[in-house]
Amino acid sequence: MRRLTVPKLRARKQDGVTAEPLVVLTAYTARQAQLLDEHCDLLLVGDSLGQVIYGLPSTVPVTLEMMANHAAAVVRGSYHAVVAVDMPFGSYEGSPQQAFESAAWLMKQSGAAAVKLEGGEVMAETVAFLVQRGIPVIGHVGLTPQAVNVLGGYGARGRTDAEADKIVGDAKALDKAGAFAIVVEGVVEPIAVAVTQAVACPTIGIGASAQCDGQVLVTEDMLGLFERVPRFVKRYENLAETISAAAGHYAKEVRERSFPGPEQTYGSE
Ligand code: KIV
Ligand code: NA
Repeated sequence: MRRLTVPKLRARKQDGVTAEPLVVLTAYTARQAQLLDEHCDLLLVGDSLGQVIYGLPSTVPVTLEMMANHAAAVVRGSYHAVVAVDMPFGSYEGSPQQAFESAAWLMKQSGAAAVKLEGGEVMAETVAFLVQRGIPVIGHVGLTPQAVNVLGGYGARGRTDAEADKIVGDAKALDKAGAFAIVVEGVVEPIAVAVTQAVACPTIGIGASAQCDGQVLVTEDMLGLFERVPRFVKRYENLAETISAAAGHYAKEVRERSFPGPEQTYGSE
């Protein structure tokens, strides 16, 4: 099976109608990618790996090298979904040229087919610069975690009229600049509707209601690996409990010397 392509994903939305929603999950490792690949249209190597994998306090410290290494693993582990990689804070905001160098390097290092970057109108020129030079771009509006130090937290956006207008304007600018999809994060439902209606490209919601053209979640959140998750996360599993129970079982057997048993011991057949 040939891998899905960016134009195929973009074409899911035709004249404002998306018959088949885009299914997106984050992936950071090869094995995770293998398991998610057949179910997803797009695997996003999110800079959320800063918190999820590295235990960092935010996505701000994440580097291009970290993103490239994890994206390469995800590309190696998948053959069906489009793989997109987040551009980390500080790697693209300075100028379109800086963004191009960072994005091209990420794609060369990893084999990812697209990049995602945060910001609206202010990044539109950069998005157009990249797209015109062969780099497919996903935009990201609403709650933009890399701006946590300006926003002061991770609360839902678009609760005032001014904020709502700004988010719709941001999405329109990215759409016009050639973004092939736009992540809409942490906004109240009417904004998700307004943004989705305002842009030609598909919107991918996270904490942005069922009204977007697709959905994304952080896989570890969805699998129940964390105690504290935002309200918009639905837990489809409780892997924290499963892993802890398995580790506890192993520890007990090692301590009472019942593991390894004969089945796991060479020469005891
Ligand atoms: O970093 C990330 O995982 C993301 C998605 C949740 C949209 O940006
Ligand atoms: Na991100």
